[in-house]
Amino acid sequence: MAETKRVRVTETVLRDAHQSLIATRMTTNDMLPIIEQMDEAGYWALEMWGGATFDSCMRFLDEDPWERLRLIRSRVKKAKLQMLLRGQNLVGYRHYADDVVREFVKKAVANGIDIVRVFDALNDLRNVEIAADQVKKEGAHLQLCIAYTLSPVHTLDAFADMAKKMTDMGADSIAIKDMAGLLSPGDCAKLVKAIKAKVNVPIELHSHYTTGLASMTYFAGVEAGADVIDTAISPFALGTSQPPTESMVAALAGTEWDTGLEIAKLLPVCEHFKKLRDKYKDLMPSIAGVNINILRYQIPGGMYSNMVNQLKEMNAIDKLEDVLKEVPVVREAMGYPPLVTPSSQMVGTQATMNVLSGRWKIFPKEIRQYFLGYYGMPPAPVDKEVQKMAIGKEEPITCRPGEKIAPEMEQARKDAAPWMTQPEDALTWIMFPQVAKDFLPKKYARVHNRDVGLQKTDDPAAYPV
Ligand code: CO
Repeated sequence: MAETKRVRVTETVLRDAHQSLIATRMTTNDMLPIIEQMDEAGYWALEMWGGATFDSCMRFLDEDPWERLRLIRSRVKKAKLQMLLRGQNLVGYRHYADDVVREFVKKAVANGIDIVRVFDALNDLRNVEIAADQVKKEGAHLQLCIAYTLSPVHTLDAFADMAKKMTDMGADSIAIKDMAGLLSPGDCAKLVKAIKAKVNVPIELHSHYTTGLASMTYFAGVEAGADVIDTAISPFALGTSQPPTESMVAALAGTEWDTGLEIAKLLPVCEHFKKLRDKYKDLMPSIAGVNINILRYQIPGGMYSNMVNQLKEMNAIDKLEDVLKEVPVVREAMGYPPLVTPSSQMVGTQATMNVLSGRWKIFPKEIRQYFLGYYGMPPAPVDKEVQKMAIGKEEPITCRPGEKIAPEMEQARKDAAPWMTQPEDALTWIMFPQVAKDFLPKKYARVHNRDVGLQKTDDPAAYPV
């Protein structure tokens, strides 16, 4: 990096920040009045779609996520629009058939997404292969994502090799996704350098403030050559969200990594979201302090609080220390999955069961599926004996899990047909069958301005979020 370079900034307030702080409840109408000013502020990109926003739009806000995308797209001329896609899971909760993945990517790009950030919870690149291929076919920017985690097999070399494979797959940039805020400044600098030594595409840093490290981590990563940072405008920053945009802009201003953003242009954006922070203050965490247990045990905050809750429910909170000690044992047997949804919950639950019922005596269904290969290939080989105990005589699959799923689009189009007001509705139907059965008829009635004899299906509250 001889010449002066600008570090670019991706604003996350329209996706990750409100997903992290207020359970993804920001509405399209909350967003629209400020979009043009955000576009003028000089951001590289606005992350504004995917992740949990898709489900949340319909389930809690009675909004069409596709419509949100189009409305924002029509107001943004300069910044790129970015989405988060969970590989073969898309924005839902299971692996979908390849034809669903391809159709979803097609429609996301057609409706206005510029950058598709794709990741897989196990870093199994076979699970991002189909989505990545389709992003390239649509001519959009393919960003492949490394899910950062700590383990004996997640070495600098392993991450750098992964980055190399990602560029071989056509990645236009690579993101380091630190879901738990575990990436320390020193490790970030080393990681960025190791990746930069192997690949020649921009590197983007994505971290959460949970441990209080993220701003320092970004600065160290930028010094080491990172090109883009993910930040949230200050009213929706810190805590479990990203570092504040304004602070990072100020920290880098006047250095060789100046972002080019002006604080003055961020002021109206800050003011707008301050009002929304007040509006949603009941959903906001009461303190945005540092979760010291994450630093202590090196596991994500959500996983720690889930374990505490599980143990409390079972009247066994005195076993917490034992369960925390069991986590590395379980993780090793499972081949060191990154601790991100859903593997973090699986590891936490299995560790709890091992302590309360005896080691490897009980396996939840998800763990059996994991050992059968349906989530993909773990970073390291699993413990064969534990695997045998979990799956018995069944044969694990070794192929790409998506290959096991028959095409689903045609049936979805047929099933959704009575309520479709746009081709995208078939995707909504297949990804969120229960929610869509409520939402699509309501939308159909609105669009056609007539009563369609709505019948309420399952209680949405009964569905996992
Ligand atoms: Co995030």
